[in-house]
Parts: sequence; structure tokens; C-alpha cells
Amino acid sequence: MPLTPVLTSRFAHERSWTIETYERTEGWTAWRTALGMTPDELVTLVKDSGLRGRGGAGFPTGMKWSFIPQPKPGETPTGPAAKPKYLVVNADEGEPGTCKDLPLMMADPHSLVEGVAIASYAIRCHYAVIYVRGEAVHAHRRLTAAVAEAYAAGHLGRDVHGSGFDLDVVVHAGAGAYICGEETALLDSLEGRRGQPRLKPPFPAVAGLYGAPTVVNNVETLASVPFVVRGGSAWFKEFGPEKSPGPKIYSVSGRVVHPGQYEAPMGTTMRELLEMAGGVRPGHELKFWTPGGSSTPYFTPEHLDVPLDFDSVAAAGSMLGTTALMVFDETDSIVEATLRFTEFYAHESCGKCTPCREGTYWLVQILERLVAGHGTARDLDLLTDTCDNILGRSFCALGDGATSCIASSLKYFRDDYVALLPPDEQGRLGRTLKLEP
Ligand code: NAI
Ligand code: SF4
Repeated sequence: MPLTPVLTSRFAHERSWTIETYERTEGWTAWRTALGMTPDELVTLVKDSGLRGRGGAGFPTGMKWSFIPQPKPGETPTGPAAKPKYLVVNADEGEPGTCKDLPLMMADPHSLVEGVAIASYAIRCHYAVIYVRGEAVHAHRRLTAAVAEAYAAGHLGRDVHGSGFDLDVVVHAGAGAYICGEETALLDSLEGRRGQPRLKPPFPAVAGLYGAPTVVNNVETLASVPFVVRGGSAWFKEFGPEKSPGPKIYSVSGRVVHPGQYEAPMGTTMRELLEMAGGVRPGHELKFWTPGGSSTPYFTPEHLDVPLDFDSVAAAGSMLGTTALMVFDETDSIVEATLRFTEFYAHESCGKCTPCREGTYWLVQILERLVAGHGTARDLDLLTDTCDNILGRSFCALGDGATSCIASSLKYFRDDYVALLPPDEQGRLGRTLKLEP
């Protein structure tokens, strides 16, 4: 297997964010290679590499690009194929515990901008937008400077490198709402409206920005693309499992000796990553952890050897999500941690649909009651029942994600909830009525 680091290989270079450093380390060469290929060849290359979206869902990147309707040779295009195409970078990283895209944009912004250029050419788009999270003013500044450097070097603009291809790239600041990381809410926000999810289908690939075909890709996904072009699909596939290959940035935080970003191939286990992070703090034991941020069901020490790739994590009952590995030890209360996450979802719920808007509010009320020691035996069923009424009934993934921490904490640590009940309520546990669905 080839060695990492790949995506973070420039992080230690002096002034790694400048075009001088980038070009000295083979940067922007993939763009020239790509311009010598046809767009269809590029789509095939990325498809063959097995690159899957790093925003959380793991959708195959090349396949997403291939969904963009293109005019057929010799025919007058109609419908979506006749419209302009857009590429939108989702740089609105907001999942609790996730901090992989921001360091990438800060330390190596040109790898993203080069990835944007290659992806734009592949889908025949001439206008790309990088939508950066509102609070990340530093990343916005850095990307703006990198895009200006790329224009000055002739990598962007009119007739790039004499290819006849035009490309404009704009860096746009969001306003700091978690929901704007949902791709269609992000598009609404870009169009100047309040960011709220749209009904899917139609997917953005058919009707996205201004109703035109749009690819929405995550930062880490696009930053991987120049490496795919330079190294080839076979090289990329050598990192990790066949169905989810590639180098990956894992955010390790919480009760570890050295929290931070660790790059390793897809399929690396938590046991290996914990070792890289110096282990759980001395004198303490791992109690639970998140494989992909707070929207993914918790894992426990029994999951330490699950390969962290999309399929293996799903088979073990959770989701790889954003590979945000938050580590908790025996001093942490799982009910309090779950309350904290649920408060976040209640606060960030956009309010468009009732199950999520009302449900997350009530989940907070119940969890607060339990944490305060005023819970009732019925509350445990009520938590499950409320989650059942949100899961699968919400308009977007936020509602479903909000139930993950509650359902999985009850599955693995029900006794911790019971221990918070007053003694007389504990005696009522066996007699609680199961609520009707
Ligand atoms: P999704 O599975 O609905 O879609 C994934 C991507 O594939 C989207 O771009 C979608 O447009 C595309 N797609 C799916 N089916 C398609 C089809 N038939 N035709 C064309 N395109 C298609 O997932 P979603 O709701 O976009 O994302 C959920 C994930 O986001 C969660 O797994 C979570 O881990 C992650 N997430 C990430 C955050 C972050 O800060 N990076 C924040 C919150 C959640
Ligand atoms: Fe808004 Fe929540 Fe409904 Fe998503 S699930 S549309 S965030 S209210």
C-alpha cells in the first residue's frame, strides 16, 4: 500500500499555502494534465479511482459528475443539458467534532482550487463557487488569496493555458448556519434566500443552483482529485478497501493525549488511530466514541477494530460520516454528552418540518429532566418514541442525525440513564407502558 501523508503532505512546508510552495511540490501540474484529456476521460478516471464523497454520505464522486446532463453531439440541447453547469464546493464544515476541511483550506488551499478547476472542466462548468462557513473568516481570506494567485498564474480565467476553456471561481462566505451545510439549503443561501433544504429529487445534478445542473462536492473530495489525476486511479485504489479507497483525514478529539488531524488510508481502525493520537489520557479508559461526528450512532470499545470505511462502519451499525472521532472516557456522562448534542440540533433545526422542529425541542426537555435527576421511568420510552417519530419522517438528514446519539446511547448504555432516575422511578421501570407508535 502507498504511504500517507498525501492530502496533508504539504502541511509542514514553509508558507505551504502559497502558490510558490504549491508549484514547487508538483502543484498545478494535474491541471495541465487534465486539460490534455477530454472531460469524459476525466470522469472515467475519477470513477475508476473509487473516490467517494468526503462530506459524509460517501456518494461516488465520478458517478455524481456523470449525472450532469450534457448536450449530445450533433443535437441542439434542450432541458437541463441546455443550461449552464455549476460546481459548488461545500466548505461549510459544521458537523460537531469535524475539523478536516478547515486545516486543508488553511494549509493547502491550492489543492482545493486545483481540484475545483479539474472538476469544472470534467463537468464542463465555467463558473464555480466555494461556499465557506461564515465563521471561518481566516479560511475565506486564505482561499480568496489562493484564487487570486491562481488567476495571476493563468490557471483560471479566459482560455486557460491556451485550451479554449474559461473558468471563473468565486469564494463566498455563508452566514454560519449548520443547515447551510445541507447541499440544497446551501444553494438557497447562495441564491440569497434563507437556507432551508429543498425537496430531493430533483437532485442538484439536474436542478441545482438557479435551477441549473450543479455538482456539490466537499473540500476534501476535491482536494483529492489532483492526486488522482497525478497518481492515477490504480495508485489511488491501493489506499484501503476496494469499495472505499483513498487517503483520508481523521479528526481525533476529546480524551486523547494528542488531539488533532491524522491522515491515514481509508479502513484504518480506531485502535490504530488512537495509537497515533497517543492513546486515551493516562489512567483512563475509553467509554464511547463517535465514528463520524455527532450525527452518527456511538461506538464503544468493542468497535475499536472496525475498519473505518463507509461499508464496514455501516455494517457495524453506524456511519463513517465526516470521520470526526470524538473520544469519551469513563469520567464522561453519556447522557450529558447526548443532551449537549441534542441541544445543538434543536438550536440548528431550520424549522421547516414538524418532526425535527418540535421533536428536537422535546428531546432536549426530556434529557434535561433526566440529567437534573427528575426523570421518570416513562421518559426512557418517551425518548425512544420521540426518536421513532423523527427518524424517517424528517425532511432532511438533520432530523435523522439528531436521533442517532439518543438511540445508540440507549442501546449501549441504558443503565446510565436508569442510574439517573430517582429510586422510586427505578422501581417502576418494568411496569412502564410501551407507547403506541
Ligand atoms: P445523500 O446521501 O442524500 O446525498 C449524498 C450526495 O449524493 C448528494 O450530493 C446528493 O445530491 C447526491 N445524490 C444522492 N443520490 C443521488 C441521485 N440519485 N442522483 C443524483 N445525485 C444523488 O446525503 P446528504 O443528505 O447530502 O448528506 C448527509 C451526510 O452529510 C451525512 O451522512 C452526514 O455525515 C454528513 N454531514 C456532514 C456535515 C459536515 O460538516 N461535513 C454536517 C452534517 C452532516
Ligand atoms: Fe429543517 Fe430539521 Fe426539517 Fe431538516 S429535518 S428540514 S433541519 S426542520
